Amino acid sequence: MTAVAIVPAAGSGSRLDARRPKQFLRVGGVPLVVLTLRVLSGAREVGGIIVAARPEVVETTRRLLERYRIPRLLDVVPGGRERQESVWLALQAIPPSASLVVIHDAVRPFITRELVASVIRTASRHGAATCGLPVVETVKQVRDGLVEATVEREGLWLVQTPQAFHRSLLWEAHEKARSDGFTGTDDAVLVERLGVPVRMVVGLPENLKITTRADLARARIFAARRTR
Ligand code: CTP
Ligand code: MG
Repeated sequence: MTAVAIVPAAGSGSRLDARRPKQFLRVGGVPLVVLTLRVLSGAREVGGIIVAARPEVVETTRRLLERYRIPRLLDVVPGGRERQESVWLALQAIPPSASLVVIHDAVRPFITRELVASVIRTASRHGAATCGLPVVETVKQVRDGLVEATVEREGLWLVQTPQAFHRSLLWEAHEKARSDGFTGTDDAVLVERLGVPVRMVVGLPENLKITTRADLARARIFAARRTR
């Protein structure tokens, strides 16, 4: 059982605001996207990888990934203006024979092959799976610096990628979102909107999404510790 991986890497990194999009910043001596792809391609359950890059850097991204000899790279395709659009465009490039798809953000390098495998296995059995962690802190609703409410924490999870789906289900979910004009922040929500259950797999505390400068600093410390 193998899945084709989609790696959305077509963002601009506006919240981090570096000289170049964060997926190309170096962490542990290599571009972030390379670090992520090394782990992903190391999972036996990943049969091929499609990367979505900003249209103007598709060629340079392809050359970069070839230089780092990322195995089983099927294609680098132009992404869209939203993450959802980038995934949708990558989905068009998936070989027709693939029945399972796993999606993983280029900017989450600290996954393990075991987590990738576990999410793929769960989706293969049940149709749709994400990973995440239960919220451990108290959650409050705040407006203009004032607390409006305290949200019941029970049952709340913070969601990560990888997420995996039967290809036909993911396709249908994206088509419905497109025809409804709905944009979500992950792929699971599109499947939820079909009324199809999505399984939750316990993720990893170190599986941070590099979003801010502080995240980048943490990632560099973490990468240095790992290679020692
Ligand atoms: N992504 C993408 N296409 C987009 C937007 C985002 O493929 N149009 C990718 C990013 O490259 C990243 C992942 O989706 O790997 C998660 O997105 P996020 O952390 O929001 O990255 P950016 O959109 O680049 O950052 P920001 O929102 O701060 O601009
Ligand atoms: Mg974004």
